[in-house]
Amino acid sequence: MCGIIGIVGLEPVAGHLVDALKRLEYRGYDSAGVATLESGSHLARRRAEGKLRNLEARLAKEPLAGLIGIGHTRWATHGAPTEANAHPHATSRVAVVHNGIIENFRELRAELEAKGQVFATETDSEAVPQMVDWYMGQGDAPATAVAKTLKRLTGAFALAFLFPGHDDLIIGARRGSPLAVGWGEGEMFLGSDAIALAPFTDRVAYLEEGDWVEITRASATIHDETDAVVERPIAIVSAAAFQVDRGNYRHFMAKEIHEQPEVIGHTLAHFLDLAGSTVRLPNPTAFDWAKLDRLSIVACGTAYYAGLVAKYWFEQFARLPVEIDVASEFRYREPPLPKNGLALFVSQSGETADTLASLRYCKAEGQHTASVVNVKTSTIARESEAIFPTLAGPEIGVASTKAFTCQLSVLASLAIAAGRARGVLTRDDEIRLVRALGDLPGLIARVLRLEPKIEKLAREIAKATDVLYLGRGSAYPIALEGALKLKEISYIHAEGYAAGELKHGPIALIDEAMPVVVIAPHDKLFEKTVSNMQEVAARGGRIVLVTDERGAAAAGVETLETIVMPDAPDLVAPMIYALPVQMLAYHTAVFMGTDVDQPRNLAKSVTVE
Ligand code: F6R
Repeated sequence: MCGIIGIVGLEPVAGHLVDALKRLEYRGYDSAGVATLESGSHLARRRAEGKLRNLEARLAKEPLAGLIGIGHTRWATHGAPTEANAHPHATSRVAVVHNGIIENFRELRAELEAKGQVFATETDSEAVPQMVDWYMGQGDAPATAVAKTLKRLTGAFALAFLFPGHDDLIIGARRGSPLAVGWGEGEMFLGSDAIALAPFTDRVAYLEEGDWVEITRASATIHDETDAVVERPIAIVSAAAFQVDRGNYRHFMAKEIHEQPEVIGHTLAHFLDLAGSTVRLPNPTAFDWAKLDRLSIVACGTAYYAGLVAKYWFEQFARLPVEIDVASEFRYREPPLPKNGLALFVSQSGETADTLASLRYCKAEGQHTASVVNVKTSTIARESEAIFPTLAGPEIGVASTKAFTCQLSVLASLAIAAGRARGVLTRDDEIRLVRALGDLPGLIARVLRLEPKIEKLAREIAKATDVLYLGRGSAYPIALEGALKLKEISYIHAEGYAAGELKHGPIALIDEAMPVVVIAPHDKLFEKTVSNMQEVAARGGRIVLVTDERGAAAAGVETLETIVMPDAPDLVAPMIYALPVQMLAYHTAVFMGTDVDQPRNLAKSVTVE
């Protein structure tokens, strides 16, 4: 999603704006731009299609010296990713950067054009500066014009405004998309998140829904949606939150894959008392697991697949009926929900628009709500009754890896807690399951050692145009996740299927050209999956089998490659089997030469529908 930065500074800001935008690159973008006030008054813009290096080249040729400015990385929604559509958008009175969507832009544009405003772009965003410009043309001061404009906008957005002739003022506004204010020494900052502000300050306040803020070098005045002046707490952001360095890795995704033993360990330590072999949830919950009639799990993409694994756990360990849906369907299905229901939202960013809308629906329907989020300050976290944080640290690669396995770790802990509370799991079961989780970081470290073999296999996969992933039970969501990882970063078409569905259609696709990746730990469903593999082998399909030693010995089918995983208890199999599919996708993409950390068309944080 788009990234926003604003600086009211003491030295030329253009370089700092671009540096901050680099820290927001992980959100995904396809054009970028900055605007400054030169000599304190005159507005100058530099914008470029494509990556930030193009903007840097433009700035090298045509430098900017202003001490105040705004910057933006744009992920195109309305209008192609051209320079003309890149932000900041400007009139003679105001420049604006915008993240999100202005839903009523067509009406606003028609109204403003009728009043004589002249639009220069095809974007929804341009309605904002045009409206502020019109109010200012009627004599309003910048803050008044912005306050009036905000009341006319519908949609979800974050905005930053810069005004020619006002060299000590930037205005920011937040509705739906996050925006943080940073306090420096005689300087002030605005940014889409604390990561953008990391080099400048660790003193950050997050605007609340509907807030807008006037920042000057000396102060920040925050208003709520009624325009009343309000205080928002300033937090000191920990150094860990700023760890966005790639270290020795070629890509953030590789770094994040390798961080998994550590971050899973951190996360589990938050939910388990390993010495006492018991689950210890960090937050007292307003609901009682024992009294729940139903659990609704709602999420998108990879987070949805984590929820799908959790469905198996909650049903098995807690005998709790689970309904699960992708948030974009759930929110519009408006399903009836039982009185004693818990709705659980899984989201790395905590800002995903559909997941957030589903949360709000469930709250309105009187459900208990809880979220598994990686960003504790996010909107989903703040609006949920209970938060179960994943402690994965900032995930920069657009393709989710460590957040996924941390989500699974949290969900497994919750399922055990639910199982105990509902009297389905005995104390002995709890001890066994918690110990299994305790061994997980070590197991993950062992799986990482399979990387050279997987890298070699990736050369073969890179030649394919289609890849099928199969799994049963909790390996089925891992098959779905494997296919998603491969398609999003290598652009190779991939499908994940429940292995038992093979003969209901996809078997027609099997030939020598299409690798079939089978995720099959030697569990109670293994024999069934072997039958499916035989069906594939009989049709000349090339099988990549991911299994453990017992599985490898028992499979009895010829494979293109067999990845032999360490033996692991059923509970932790989904977490460890996630790694080979992550590594396979990663190395395939590296061979294909794609932009692994920022794959085309994708955004890290999907704050629009
Ligand atoms: C895939 C991926 C996406 C996200 C999805 C939800 O690698 O990262 O599918 O999982 O966009 O995002 P969050 O978890 O931030 O709600």
